[in-house]
Amino acid sequence: EGSKLWGGRFTGANDPVMEKFNASIGFDRRMWEADIKGSQAYVRALGKVGLVTKDEMEEIYEGLGKVGIEWQNGTFQIQPSDEDIHTANERRLKELIGPAAGKLHTGRSRNDQCATDMRIWLREALRTLRGYLLDFIHVFLERAKRETDIIMPGYTHLQRAQPIRWSHWLLSHACALQRDAQRLDEMAVRVNELPLGSGALAGNPFNVDRQFLAKELGFGAVSLNSLDATSGRDFVVEFLFWASLTATHLSKWAEDLIIYSSKEFSFISLSDAYSTGSSLMPQKKNPDSLELIRGKAGRVFGHCSGFMMTLKGLPSTYNKDLQEDKEGMFDAYDTMTGVLLVATGVLSTLEVNKVAAKAALSPDMLATDIAYYLVRKGIPFREAHGMSGAAVHLAETKKCQLSDLTLADLQTISPKFTADVEKLWNYENSVEQYTAAGGTSGASVMHQIQTLDEWLAHM
Ligand code: ARG
Repeated sequence: EGSKLWGGRFTGANDPVMEKFNASIGFDRRMWEADIKGSQAYVRALGKVGLVTKDEMEEIYEGLGKVGIEWQNGTFQIQPSDEDIHTANERRLKELIGPAAGKLHTGRSRNDQCATDMRIWLREALRTLRGYLLDFIHVFLERAKRETDIIMPGYTHLQRAQPIRWSHWLLSHACALQRDAQRLDEMAVRVNELPLGSGALAGNPFNVDRQFLAKELGFGAVSLNSLDATSGRDFVVEFLFWASLTATHLSKWAEDLIIYSSKEFSFISLSDAYSTGSSLMPQKKNPDSLELIRGKAGRVFGHCSGFMMTLKGLPSTYNKDLQEDKEGMFDAYDTMTGVLLVATGVLSTLEVNKVAAKAALSPDMLATDIAYYLVRKGIPFREAHGMSGAAVHLAETKKCQLSDLTLADLQTISPKFTADVEKLWNYENSVEQYTAAGGTSGASVMHQIQTLDEWLAHM
């Protein structure tokens, strides 16, 4: 079919069903800008090796600029024969400037072009997501600074464990997100390698200056091997994995808050801006924002595992299966944008109920502290643990709180108990003993805040 850029060897037309099935223009049009920029750089590289004259170079360069303006203004008319963004732009260029357009693709393939476009697009996407992620982390640090005095129960197995600072909980999530930001930056270096100049697979036969192309397009390096460059998609997988892991961290954070926002806990209340009601039960205020954040993690990981399934078993080098690389990447980006923006809104507007958080503490959560008290009096921890357990048991049989046991009661367990045991029944004292780096004492929490603050300031 003559109208196709690859139509030369064909005599029959595609089945319209096949044409639609084969096309990626419906989604890869998102990369129009990357495609235009990549072509503009490429035509300049062709000019450098004399494959286009200076006039042709300028004509093509400016023509591409006009095509770009049509995309920008929303006037670009996609034709049924436009298979993808690459063919669409070249088709339009030819309409605008005539036969000179036919020189643009010299030595280039949609294989190196497409991989280049994707890397340019993803590079920008990563910059945006990085900004959202850092903004989100900033909110954690701000709250952690303001709210260090709030103490609440910490949980393991969702069972009441030890008192902790609310700030300590906040910072735990900030730490995971910090690593996500670090991973993003590490990945961005690998994304920013230029495939252009690799041709369909074997390389470029006209010795185009790939370093020049890299510089023009802002790439940090040129790819080393053309077979790898045209078909390697681990940069997409890495992004999808990064998004999956970041979304998983957000899901954990959201799940904590969903629990904390229930009436039974009441540690926090979400702003109306991020809650919804029930069409049936008038009293309901539901944490839909957080539930969606939790839910989206599944969707994003689906893209990651789905695309890895696509890659598994592919031979070298380009195969059309690879066209499946885009929709997941775009959707993961859109999803992560929504997730991060909503999460930031939720965290900056929720209210912590200091009184309820503290009221949820109970003396049984100080059983560990009893053991530590005895350790400080020279009793080996294993024995101290057993004695504290005996105290818990005694309180249970007496149907009273641990803190209601009298000194005489405690002394039946160990003579090491003295009047100073009273100091244990204080949650501030409890959290303040965790002074080693990483703990929940005020000083340790401050150190965490400072460390993350400094890191953030240099990002
Ligand atoms: N639309 C194609 C893709 O997204 C572009 C590359 C086509 N290359 C080819 N040899 N058919 O993968």
